[in-house]
Amino acid sequence: MMGNCRVCGSAISSFMSFGKMPIANAFLRPEDFSREYFFELAPAFCQTCEAFQIVEQPAPEMMFHSDYAFFSGTSRAMAEHFQRYAAAVRARHLNGPDPFVVEIGSNDGILIGNFAASGIRHLGVEPSANVAAVAKQKGINTLVRFFDAACAGQIADQHGKADAIVAANVICHIPDIDAVAAGAKRLLKPAGVFLFEEPYLGDMVQKTSYDQIYDEHVFIFSVGSVSRAFAKHGLEVVGAEPQPTHGGSMRYTLAPKGGRKADPSVARQLAVEAELGLGRAETYERFRANCERSRERLTELLHRLRREGKKVAGYGATSKSTTVLNYCGIGPDDIEFISDTTPLKQGKFTPGMHIPVRPPEVFHRAPPDYAVLFAWNHRDEIFAKEAEFSKHGKWICFVPEVGVVE
Ligand code: SAH
Ligand code: TMP
Ligand code: ZN
Repeated sequence: MMGNCRVCGSAISSFMSFGKMPIANAFLRPEDFSREYFFELAPAFCQTCEAFQIVEQPAPEMMFHSDYAFFSGTSRAMAEHFQRYAAAVRARHLNGPDPFVVEIGSNDGILIGNFAASGIRHLGVEPSANVAAVAKQKGINTLVRFFDAACAGQIADQHGKADAIVAANVICHIPDIDAVAAGAKRLLKPAGVFLFEEPYLGDMVQKTSYDQIYDEHVFIFSVGSVSRAFAKHGLEVVGAEPQPTHGGSMRYTLAPKGGRKADPSVARQLAVEAELGLGRAETYERFRANCERSRERLTELLHRLRREGKKVAGYGATSKSTTVLNYCGIGPDDIEFISDTTPLKQGKFTPGMHIPVRPPEVFHRAPPDYAVLFAWNHRDEIFAKEAEFSKHGKWICFVPEVGVVE
C-alpha cells in the first residue's frame, strides 16, 4: 500500500499488511454485523524522517464519538501510574504562581483529575462525549472537542497560556501531527513544557507486540521521529523517560527551542534506538517475519486446544485484541467469549471476528481451561486479582512469545 508520510510528505510504502480491519473499539451487536466498516491496516516506515505510521486510517470522528468504548479508569494500576505522572509534573514544572495545566485526550479524567484535586487551574480536551461526561461529573473542567491549532488558540485566549500540556496515549492517535505541534507551541508559555507518553516503537519491535498497531495508533513513536516531527514547529525534545505502561511506553518532554537544556536521557535513548536499528528498513522486515511466526504459533496452539476439546476464553476485550483476532483469524470457534469489566462492551461482540464479550462474573462462574491474556499490558494487576483462576486454569500469552504460562 502506498501513501505519503504524514510528517514530511515523502512517498511511503507499507512493509506488510495485516489485512482488512474493523475499527478496534467498535464493539457491536448482531444487527450491525452487516454494515461493519473495514479498512486496510498496513504499517509503513518513512525512509526520510523515520516516522512509523499506518498508511490508511479511518476518520477520527469514526473512532472518537459519544459511544467511545475505552474508559481509562478500568485499570487501578494505571490510576496509580497517572497519580505519579501528575506528581512529577507538579514537582518539576508547576512551581510558578497560579499555574495552568491542559491535558489532551483526558478521557474520564484519570490524569487531569489529580491536578483538579489539588486545586490547580486545569482543562481537559476530550472529543469523546461519553467519557468526557464521566470527568465532568467529577468536577473536572473538560472541553469536548478535538485538540488542534484553533482549539489551542481559543484556550490561550480564554484562559491564558499553559505552564504544562500533558497527554498520554493520544498524541500517537492524531493524524495531523502538525496541528498538535503548532497548537502546543501556541498554547505554551515560553518556559512551559509539553509532556506526552505513548507506546514505544523500540518495545514493539523487540517484543513483536504487533497488536499496538490498530486504527487509533496512526503513529508508533520513537525519540528520533518525535524530535524530527516537532522540530519544524520550534519544539525540542528535552527528556525521554521509558515507562512500563501499555507494554512499554516512552514519556517525551518537549519545550520551546532554547527554553531548556536537553536532559542526558535524550542522547542516551537515541543511542539505544541506533542500536535497535529503528532507522533501518531491515528491522521492519524482521518484525514482519516475527509477526507471521507469532500468528502461526498462536493459531496452532488454539487449534490444538480445540481438537483436545478444551474450553478457551479471552481476558480483556482490548482494542489491541482486534488486530490479533482479525490478523490471526481467531473467532468464536476458538475463543468462546472474552471477559471484560467495561459495561459498554459487555453483551456486544468483538469487531470483525464477533466473539461475545461477557462480564467477569461469567468468567468466574464457569472458568475456562485456558484464558488468552489479551490485556497482557495489565498482567500483574490481572494475575493478582485472578489468583483463584490460576489454581486450575492456564494463561496463554503471546507477547513477547506465544505460549502457555507455567
Ligand atoms: N489519556 C487516556 C486516554 C487514552 S485513549 C489514557 O491514557 O488512558 C485516547 C483518548 O484520546 C480518547 O479518549 C479519545 O477520545 C481522545 N482523542 C482522540 N483524538 C483526540 C484529539 N485530537 N484531541 C484530544 N483528544 C483526542
Ligand atoms: P487497554 O489494554 O487498552 O488498557 O484495555 C484494557 C481492557 O481490559 C479494557 O477493556 C478493560 C479490560 N480489563 C479487564 O477486563 N480486567 C482488568 O482487570 C483490567 C485491568 C482491564
Ligand atoms: Zn516522513
